[in-house]
Amino acid sequence: MKKELIDPFNRKIEYVRVSVTDKCNYRCGYCMPEQGVHPEGMHTEYLSYDELARIIQAFVNLGVSKIRLTGGEPLVRKNLAGFVKQINAFEGLEDIALSTNAHHLAREAQALKEAGLNRVNISIDSLKAERFNKITRGGDLVKVLVGVDKALEVGLNPVKFNMVVMRGTNDDEIEAMVDYGLEKGVEVRFIETMPIGPAGISMMDQHYAADKILARIKKHVGSDLIPSTGRTHDGPSRNYTIAGTQTRIGVISAVSQHFCESCNRVRLTARGVLALCLGQEDAVDLRTPLRQGISDAELQQMIVQAIAKKPERHFFNENVHNIEFRQMVQLGG
Ligand code: GTP
Ligand code: 5AD
Ligand code: SF4
Repeated sequence: MKKELIDPFNRKIEYVRVSVTDKCNYRCGYCMPEQGVHPEGMHTEYLSYDELARIIQAFVNLGVSKIRLTGGEPLVRKNLAGFVKQINAFEGLEDIALSTNAHHLAREAQALKEAGLNRVNISIDSLKAERFNKITRGGDLVKVLVGVDKALEVGLNPVKFNMVVMRGTNDDEIEAMVDYGLEKGVEVRFIETMPIGPAGISMMDQHYAADKILARIKKHVGSDLIPSTGRTHDGPSRNYTIAGTQTRIGVISAVSQHFCESCNRVRLTARGVLALCLGQEDAVDLRTPLRQGISDAELQQMIVQAIAKKPERHFFNENVHNIEFRQMVQLGG
C-alpha cells in the first residue's frame, strides 16, 4: 500500500519545499537583511546535492509527491539542473517546481526543463526598472523579464508571477501587473507581506489586504472574477479566472486569513533543518544524524516523528512578536 504522511491535525503532508541555498543575489527588504545572511557560513554547513536527494528520497518513500526548489535564490547554486535530473528519477515524485527571482533564468531555463522541471513561480514586485532595483536592492528588471520570456519559450508550465504588495511602495502597480499577466497569459498572485524576518513586525505598516486587492482588480478589468474550484497545486493561493479570458489571478492572504487547516507542506533548509511551519519555530535537525550515518529506515522514522510535531497554525495576525527569529531567505518563502 502507498504510504502517507499524516500530521496530528489530519493533514496529509505531500509537498516539501527544499531550500538549496540561503544566499541570494538580491536583497528584498521583506526577506533578506542588507548584508545577507551568515556571510561567514562554512561551505560544509550546506547539505550536498546527494544529501538533499537522500532526504527527498525518504520523503517520496513516505508518500510525498511534490518538491519545490527555493532559496535564497536557487539559481545561484551551481548545477541546479543536474540536481533536478537526479531527483526526477525518483518514482512517485510527480511534480518538481521552482521559485526564483528569475535573474539567471534565461541562462538556465532550457537545461532545467530538459532535466525534468515542470513549472516556475517568479517574483516580480514592480514593472518599473528603477523601483524594481530599489525594492530588490540591486535587481535588474530587464534580465528578469527576459527570463520570464525564456521560461515560457522552453515550455515550463505554468509560469506564475508573485508580487508581494507593499503599501506605499508598489501598491499602485496592482493593475499594471494584471495587464502584464494578461499580456503573457500568465497567472499573477498578489501576496500580503508576512511579518517574518529582517523587518518583522514593522512590516505590518506595509500590509495591504487581499480583499482590497481583489476589489481593485475587479474594477480594473471591468468583468467578474470567477472563483476557481479547488486550489491549483494545493497551494495557499485563492484563485480566480478573469471572466472572458483564460487568465487567472490569485491572492495569498496569509495575514488577513490563514489557510493553515489545509496546509500540506513542510520545509527543508539548505543546512538540513526540517522546519514544520513557516510561522512557528518547530524544527528538527536532519543534518547531524545524516552525517552520523543513520540508515534510510531511521531517516524515514525521524521524518515521521518530526511530522508528529507539526503545529496547527501560525499566528501572524495575533502574535507577531515571536517570529523575527529567522529570515524568510533561510526558509525559502
Ligand atoms: P504553487 O504550488 O504554485 O501554488 O506555489 P506556492 O504558492 O505554494 O509557492 P511560492 O513559492 O510561489 O510561494 C508564494 C507565497 O506563498 C510566498 O509568499 C510563500 O511564502 C507563501 N507560502 C507558501 N507556503 C506557505 C505556507 O505554508 N504558509 C504561509 N503562510 N505562506 C506560504
Ligand atoms: N512576505 C510575503 N512573501 C514573501 N516572500 C519572501 N518574503 C516574503 C514575506 N515576508 C515571497 C517572495 C517569493 C516567495 C517565494 O516568497 O516574494 O515570491
Ligand atoms: Fe532573494 Fe527572493 Fe528573498 Fe528577494 S525575496 S531577497 S529575490 S530570495
